[in-house]
Amino acid sequence: MENDGANERTGPDTEKIHAASRRRYAAVARNPAGQFSYPTGRDSAERLGYRTDLLNRIPADVVVRFVGVGNPFTLGEPEPGWSVLDVGCGGGFDSQVAGHYVGPAGLVCGVDLSEAMLTVAREGQMVGGLANLEFRQGYAEKLPVPSGWADLVISNGVLNLASCKAAAFGEVFRVLKPGGRFQAVDLVLIADLPPDLRNDEFAWSN
Ligand SMILES: C[S@@+](CC[C@H](N)C(=O)[O-])C[C@H]1O[C@@H](n2cnc3c(N)ncnc32)[C@H](O)[C@@H]1O
Repeated sequence: MENDGANERTGPDTEKIHAASRRRYAAVARNPAGQFSYPTGRDSAERLGYRTDLLNRIPADVVVRFVGVGNPFTLGEPEPGWSVLDVGCGGGFDSQVAGHYVGPAGLVCGVDLSEAMLTVAREGQMVGGLANLEFRQGYAEKLPVPSGWADLVISNGVLNLASCKAAAFGEVFRVLKPGGRFQAVDLVLIADLPPDLRNDEFAWSN
C-alpha cells in the first residue's frame, strides 16, 4: 500500500507501520498477557460494562484476547438483522458480541491486518459456534467491504494505529449505509508527539 499523502503527518511510511503492527499483534495473538499498559481480558470487559449474559456465551480464549480500550456498544446496541463491520477486530471479541446482538439474520464482518489475529478469531468462532461472522484480512485505510454495506461500523483501539486517519475515516463513511452508525472507542493524542516518537515504527504499533 502506498503512503497516503501529505495531508496529515510525517513519520514512517504506511508499509513500515503495517509491518510493525503485524509483528506486534502476532505476539499478542500468541499471548496477550502483559502486553498492554491498560487492563485487558474478562476483568476489563466487565469493568467496561459489556453485558454479562453475552460475555458468558463467548469462548474464554476469545475473551482473554480482548485488548480493546473501551466498549463501543455503550453508544448503542446493534439490532437483529443488522450488518456490522468491526474494523481491527483482533481476536474477534467485539465481533462475537455483535454477532449475538444481530442474531442469525444479521452478519458481522471482522477486518484485521494481522493474519495471526484472524487465525485466533476464526478458531474462536468455531468454538463459539456463531455462523453469522466472517473474518477478512485488510486495512482500516482500505477496507475489503463494498460501499454502503454496513448498518453499523465499530472499532476498538485501532484507529490510533492507522497510518492515515483521513483515509481510515473516509473508508468508514464509504462502507456505511445512508443513516448508518459509527461507534468507535480509541486513544487520542492531546498534544503533539516529539519527532523521535513520531518516527518510531514500534510506537506507531503500540
Ligand atoms: C489494540 S488491538 C484491538 C483489537 C480488538 N479491536 C479488541 O478490542 O480486542 C488493535 C488491532 O488492530 C489491528 N490493526 C492495527 N492497525 C491496523 C490497520 N491499519 N488496519 C487494520 N487492522 C489494524 C491489529 O492487528 C490489532 O488486532
